[in-house]
Amino acid sequence: MSYYLGIDLGTSSIKLSLADDKGNILDSASKDYPLYLPKENWSEQDPNLWYKAMLSCFDKLNEKHDLKLVKSLSFSGQMHGMVTLDKDDNVIRNAILWNDSRTTAQVDYLNNVIGKDKLIQHTSNIALCGFTAPKVLWLCENEKSNFDKIAKIMLPKDYLAYKLSGVFASDVSDLSGTLYFDVKKNDYSDFMLDILHINRNMLPKIFNSYDVIGTLKNDLEKITHLSKNCKIVIGGGDQAIGATGTNTLKEGEISLSLGTSGVVFAPVNEYRYDKLGRVHCFRHTTGKFHLMGCTLCAMGSLKWYMEDILKTNDYSLINQLDDNISDILFLPYLMGERSPINDPSASGYLSNIKLSHTRLDILKAIIEGICFSLYHNYQVMIGDGITANCARVIGGGTKSKKTLQILADIFGIEIKTINSSDGGALGAIICAMVGDGLYKNVEEAGSSLIKDKEVFYPNKERHTKYELKFKKYLDLYCRNKI
Ligand code: XUL
Repeated sequence: MSYYLGIDLGTSSIKLSLADDKGNILDSASKDYPLYLPKENWSEQDPNLWYKAMLSCFDKLNEKHDLKLVKSLSFSGQMHGMVTLDKDDNVIRNAILWNDSRTTAQVDYLNNVIGKDKLIQHTSNIALCGFTAPKVLWLCENEKSNFDKIAKIMLPKDYLAYKLSGVFASDVSDLSGTLYFDVKKNDYSDFMLDILHINRNMLPKIFNSYDVIGTLKNDLEKITHLSKNCKIVIGGGDQAIGATGTNTLKEGEISLSLGTSGVVFAPVNEYRYDKLGRVHCFRHTTGKFHLMGCTLCAMGSLKWYMEDILKTNDYSLINQLDDNISDILFLPYLMGERSPINDPSASGYLSNIKLSHTRLDILKAIIEGICFSLYHNYQVMIGDGITANCARVIGGGTKSKKTLQILADIFGIEIKTINSSDGGALGAIICAMVGDGLYKNVEEAGSSLIKDKEVFYPNKERHTKYELKFKKYLDLYCRNKI
């Protein structure tokens, strides 16, 4: 018997999932850790706590399973965070995370003084507060003594891979979100390293997501319960790994994630980027490329309306919605917006409300607005040459069939759910299996392990009406832009 392990390093917890060689998830263990918000817009975590949490999950899993049978393990990591180590491998300061927005001055400098065109030329992307490069610049400008101690800079999951293997490594999907990686060349950007006053010695060796970087470090057998031959496969950023776990690996298919934030993820075979940087151009776990757009407050907007405004947890209210298109418009920019408008100061709108409207009319408009924000990203991608005939959906929003039908009607393509709800874990397990040689590549593993479950077909008439409503949605943002 052989096992494979997926390690999902999230923002609130870490989750380890154990699978057999058929990809069946046998068990999982998770552990929370705190998020530090010491100042407005700051968001930090202690990498040592990630490591401790991971070790406690090894302990929990080993109570019921023999972890010596794990042939390989891999990672899905929260992206963009900056972990810094000194020359003795001590963590210099808390990691600054993807959702930290202290770097507005650095982003402004990068986008407007260095210039978006130059950034796109050298990295395929523009600067966003969440990305790693502005954090490096911030550290240099605000904590010079810490900056001067830097011997290694790495992404969150790379810290765990380093602790387990002793190999300083990263992968192309996660590095794509740093803004010091040239996505097209598949190498660090010397242009960006100069701007950030760092050098290549401080950065990890570059691998593909399915590459074995080493085996378990000598002294770790006892505390991890793993065998010394267990292969450490580097894995990738959580979005690319999530898409791998839905088998969204080839051009022509997209995945949509309906979590607190929402993501449109579109694999492309050849290098393609958005000339205005409205959506990200990153490497995928296949080693090829993908475009990605992220709307910040997708199911977060629904939660706000249901729980904060209607004061209910009864999401079955959504089942009472009829098939009519709401005449209310909603912009879900309750946390500002990332893509495609990249406007941190954008805010939410409910427009066109009358006395005759009920809470259900508003609820319908909220769900439509969330789907429009995803559709907006998709439209930008279509402009960049993407075509898709179906989308696979993951995330909490997939629990509601009404929501999935609205999504199908707005997108005008088939929306499919899949047979697994373990997207992130499964994506990492796929990388681990490919690294171990069980499958030839991630594409082969994805199509063997992941099957479609339910399909929602678009209604043509409603799609045409939604196209008209989408124009009004775009117009509402432009009219209210401050
Ligand atoms: C991706 C992104 C998030 C974080 C945290 O660009 O910002 O998915 O990786 O989950």
